[in-house]
Amino acid sequence: MFKRKVRNWNVPKGQELTEMDKKILYYQDKGCLVPKRKLIKTPEQIEGIRRSGEVNTGVLDLVAREIHAGMSTLEIDRLVYDYTVSHGAVPAPLNYEGFPKSVCTSINEVVCHGIPSEFDVLEEGDIINVDVSTVLDGYYSDASRMFVIGQTTPEKQKLVDVARECLQIGIEAARPYGFVGDIGNAIAHHAHKNGFTVVRDLCGHGVGLEFHEDPEVEHYGRKGTGMLLVPGMVFTIEPMINMGDWRVFVDEEDGWTVVTEDELPSAQWEHTLVMTETGVEVLTY
Ligand code: MF3
Ligand code: CO
Repeated sequence: MFKRKVRNWNVPKGQELTEMDKKILYYQDKGCLVPKRKLIKTPEQIEGIRRSGEVNTGVLDLVAREIHAGMSTLEIDRLVYDYTVSHGAVPAPLNYEGFPKSVCTSINEVVCHGIPSEFDVLEEGDIINVDVSTVLDGYYSDASRMFVIGQTTPEKQKLVDVARECLQIGIEAARPYGFVGDIGNAIAHHAHKNGFTVVRDLCGHGVGLEFHEDPEVEHYGRKGTGMLLVPGMVFTIEPMINMGDWRVFVDEEDGWTVVTEDELPSAQWEHTLVMTETGVEVLTY
């Protein structure tokens, strides 16, 4: 089979090559997947995404202060909507491809994309992912945290902790002129070492000018595979770690809620990051 090389990086004829052009063309000529130019954000765009990230972090900090047993996930949705709008921003999930609420709330065996509801009331021992995404002045940011309601079981607490470590390890594996596959490889290694599995059907993603951009950031895979990571790229890492099997399904009724097939718990943490010349910087702390 003739495998056509993808030539995402082009330099107009006669234009002098920058150091960045030379590095990217070197990898492209070797057959590596490299980003299109629009994935490299300008300093001004990165500042815009950073400001969006500040509002996003403010939302998550508010949720962290307010979340408690007996609260419904619809109340979380209200907090998110009110805070976001009062800071001049818009919740990115609201009406995104038909999503009906402002935030995703995913309890226990729900992996992600849970829809806030007055009927989902938090109970002692629940673990919940609150996934917040913000648009400010057209710039998108995206981050999520786990919250433990009161005390949970040692197993669920370990799942929450290991998922958080997986995000941190993924962040540390992301290097300029490394590859997206380096991130997933490090994450899966840590999850498996702890007896957990990695969800394969959902991934991190480029973000910033749109909610979901290239590249796809898988949370498993081989080092040196996937897209080349170039300074100026902005993307999320958001590993979903399962206590049991990695397989998931989507609830047929609402078309959104992703649940583990074996109905064992799942945990996820997410940050938006920018690649720089020296390493990644988290934009959603
Ligand atoms: N915040 C999710 C992510 O991390 C996307 C949610 S899409 C929604 O990519 F429509 F469900 F909000
Ligand atoms: Co995301």
